[in-house]
Amino acid sequence: MKTLRRQNIAVLVSGSGTNLQALLDAEKAGKLPMGHISLVVSNKKEVYALARAEENGIEAVTLVKRDLGSQEAFEAALQETLCERHIDLIILAGFLAILSADFTAKWPGRIINIHPSLIPSFCGPGFYGLKVHEAALARGVKVSGATVHYVNEIPDGGEIILQKAVAVLPGDTPEKLQKRIMEEAEWLLLPQAAELVCASLAGKETEDESHAEL
Ligand code: GAR
Repeated sequence: MKTLRRQNIAVLVSGSGTNLQALLDAEKAGKLPMGHISLVVSNKKEVYALARAEENGIEAVTLVKRDLGSQEAFEAALQETLCERHIDLIILAGFLAILSADFTAKWPGRIINIHPSLIPSFCGPGFYGLKVHEAALARGVKVSGATVHYVNEIPDGGEIILQKAVAVLPGDTPEKLQKRIMEEAEWLLLPQAAELVCASLAGKETEDESHAEL
């Protein structure tokens, strides 16, 4: 019986990194047994997520599209960074940029994203961060939540892995709703989904090796 290999995770961030923190805490608490966070990549300079990586002794790399000159150059640098470190799974945790179809095609079933609404509501291009909660409140929904899904060529269009509903309360502002959804859904869901996907990737790997030996 083969032992399963822990999957190497890169977390992509753009901001404060509270979801990154939830992943780091989960790993420390033994709740990510099939995954190991080995890299953080930010597409913005000097964001707090980078400090969180440093505090936890995790390598952090900053790649800024404008400095690199184009989306193609950004994605080429990202691809090289990920491949050099033998990354198995990419987690978009508050990564507020869209990856091209060319890039996502290179990582089928190996990129997941957390989105702060119940997809298919309030998602797709233009719906990120507080804008999602502003739109939910403007529409008057009574329930919102968070979704973790696989990433493919359609923004927020990949297969759903986990979802959790969160009540919208009278007097909610976008900030209050964002905080409740993070606390009650995002920070729980993302580590759970990460473990599910890592376990599934590790299982497939072992299966493939067994077949290769037959
Ligand atoms: C989170 O609410 C995350 O779901 C959202 O941005 C916030 C980042 O917070 N992501 C998106 O809107 C992606 N479309 P964080 O940096 O503290 O994790």
